[in-house]
Amino acid sequence: MKELVGAETSGEMKQEWVNLIRVFTCPEDETTRAVLVHHMRQILFELHDFLIQNVGITEAVSLKEISDRCTDTVMNRDPEKRLADVITGVFEEIAPHAVNVASPYFVGHMTAAIPYFMVHLKAIVAALNQNVVKLETSKMLSVLEKQVVAKVHRIIYAKDDAFYDEHVQNTHTSLGSFTEGGTTANLTALWVARNKSLGPVGDFKGVEAEGLPAAYAAHGIDRCVVLVSKRCHYSLRKCGGILGIGNTNIIPVPVDSTNRMRVDRLAEMIEGFKKEGRTKVMAVVAVAGTTETGNVDRLTEISAICRREGIFLHADAAWGGPTLMSETYASILKGIELVDSVTIDGHKQFYMPMSCGMIFFKDPTSLDAVAYHANYIIRKGSVDLGSKTLSGSREANCLILDSALKIMGSRGYGMLIDHGIELARDFAEEIEKRDMFQLVTRPELNILTYRICPTSVQDELKTASDERINEVNEHFNEVNRTLQQEQREAGNSFVSRTVLEQETVFPGSPEGNVVVLRSVLMNPLTTIDVLRDILDEQESIYAAFLQGASTKKGRHRGEEG
Ligand SMILES: Cc1ncc(COP(=O)(O)O)c(C=O)c1O
Repeated sequence: MKELVGAETSGEMKQEWVNLIRVFTCPEDETTRAVLVHHMRQILFELHDFLIQNVGITEAVSLKEISDRCTDTVMNRDPEKRLADVITGVFEEIAPHAVNVASPYFVGHMTAAIPYFMVHLKAIVAALNQNVVKLETSKMLSVLEKQVVAKVHRIIYAKDDAFYDEHVQNTHTSLGSFTEGGTTANLTALWVARNKSLGPVGDFKGVEAEGLPAAYAAHGIDRCVVLVSKRCHYSLRKCGGILGIGNTNIIPVPVDSTNRMRVDRLAEMIEGFKKEGRTKVMAVVAVAGTTETGNVDRLTEISAICRREGIFLHADAAWGGPTLMSETYASILKGIELVDSVTIDGHKQFYMPMSCGMIFFKDPTSLDAVAYHANYIIRKGSVDLGSKTLSGSREANCLILDSALKIMGSRGYGMLIDHGIELARDFAEEIEKRDMFQLVTRPELNILTYRICPTSVQDELKTASDERINEVNEHFNEVNRTLQQEQREAGNSFVSRTVLEQETVFPGSPEGNVVVLRSVLMNPLTTIDVLRDILDEQESIYAAFLQGASTKKGRHRGEEG
C-alpha cells in the first residue's frame, strides 16, 4: 500500500471503495433494481411455473459440454459484471442446465418439489444470518431450535408433558439437534454410541480423550463393530471410517425378501461375537425407509434384542421419519419410540430446502458423550448449541421447520406422506397390469423398484435352469440400464436406477445383481396419469430397442453419481 501514493491513485482507491460499499449494501442503480425485482418475483411468487419454464428435468447438453464451460481457474481481480448482469446470467446460463427436481415427472430421487414458501423462509434465514453455534450470534434462534427439536422428538418418543417441560429449554440436557443432513446425523449418533461403548474405565479416560488403541486395550477387545441392515445407506460406512473403527467393521446383516433386516440373523451374529469374545458390538443400525426400496426394519423386535444385550440402537429414519405425522400410516414405524437415537432429514420428507438433517436422542443426556467446551463460547451450562454438535457454525434451519409446521401443520405433512404412499400403491398396481414390466419391490412407504421384463419371460424364468436365468437377467440388466439412460437424456421424465443384490427379491431370480428402475414418490403434483406417461415412454423406448432402432449397447458412460 505504501507504494500507492499520489492524489490520482488515492482518488481511484476512494472511488473503488465507494463502489464496493454500494454493491455491498444495495442495487447499483434503478436498472439493477428492476432486473432483480423481475427475477426474484418469479422465484418468490411463481416458483413452480418458473422451474417448469426455465429448468430442464435433465437436458440435452452433455456433461462434457458444460464441464468445458467451467474450466476458468483464475479469479478475476476487478469486478467483471454488474449484479443485474450476474443474476441474469444465472437465470439464463446456469439455471437451464440445473435439474428441475420439482417437476412432477422427476420421480427418481429423494430430492423433489418444495412448497414455494420455503424459498421465502430460506431467504429470511440468509437475511438474518444467525449462527446458532452460540447464543451470542443467534439468541432467539437457539431457543427456537430447542423448541422445534422437542416437537419432532415428541412425535418420535411421545414422552409426557412433564418430560418436555423439563427438557425443552433445559441448558444442561439436549433432545437432539439440527445437522447438515442425514450423513452427519448418523455420524453424530454413532459418535455418541462409540463414546458410550468405550467410555472411561479405571485410569482410562474414554475413547474421545485417548483414542482407539488405548480404548481397545482398556476394554480388552480387538475391535468394535456396528451391525447394520444390508440395505442401509452408505453414509454408515463413512461413519466407520471417520470414527476410526474402520468401515469394514460396519457389518451388514442380511435382509429378507421384504428388504428388512433378518432379526434371526442379527441375534445369531451378536451371539457369535459374544462367543468369540474380543469384538464389541458398538451399535446396531436399523433403517426406517431404506434408500433403495423404502422398507422399514422391525424396530420393536430389534430393539428387544439390543435392550437385552445392552447395545445402542440407532434408527436411520432420514427418509421415513416424517411418516410419523401421517394419521393413517404412522404405525409402519411402530417401535421407533424404543430406539436410542433417530436420524430424520429435513430436506427429504419435511420438504425443506437443501440442506437440513436432524438427530434425536431418547435420553436427553446422551449428547454429553460428545460435549466440547471453550472459554470464549460454549461454556458449560450455556444455551450454546455448538457444545454438543459435530459442526461449529450453523445456519438457523429451525426457523424454516418451525414456520412450515405453523403453515401446514403436522396434518398437512401427513397428507403429503399419505399421497406418496397411496400413489406408490397405485403405481405398483399399474406396473403389474402391464405385460412389459415386473414389479421388483412392492412399496411399503413411497419407493418402489421395477424393471422391464415381459410377463412371458417372468413365467419362463420360474422353471428355467440357472444358466438360462443368468443369461436372461444379464440381457434385461442391459436393457434397463440403457432404457433408464435414454429416458433421462430425452429429458421428459426421470426415474433412477439401482442394482439390487439378488439373494432376495423374486421367483426365478438370478444369482447375480439385478438392475432395477427406482421411483420415489414424494411430489404432491405427481399423479397416476403422470406415472402412466412415464411407463408409456419406457414401453416405447423398449419397443424401439426391439425393432433394433436403438440398442446402444455399452454406451453407459457412468457419468451420474
Ligand atoms: C436412509 C438414508 N440415510 C442417510 C442418508 C444420507 O442423507 P444426506 O444425503 O442428507 O446426508 C440418506 C440419503 O439419501 C438416506 O436415504
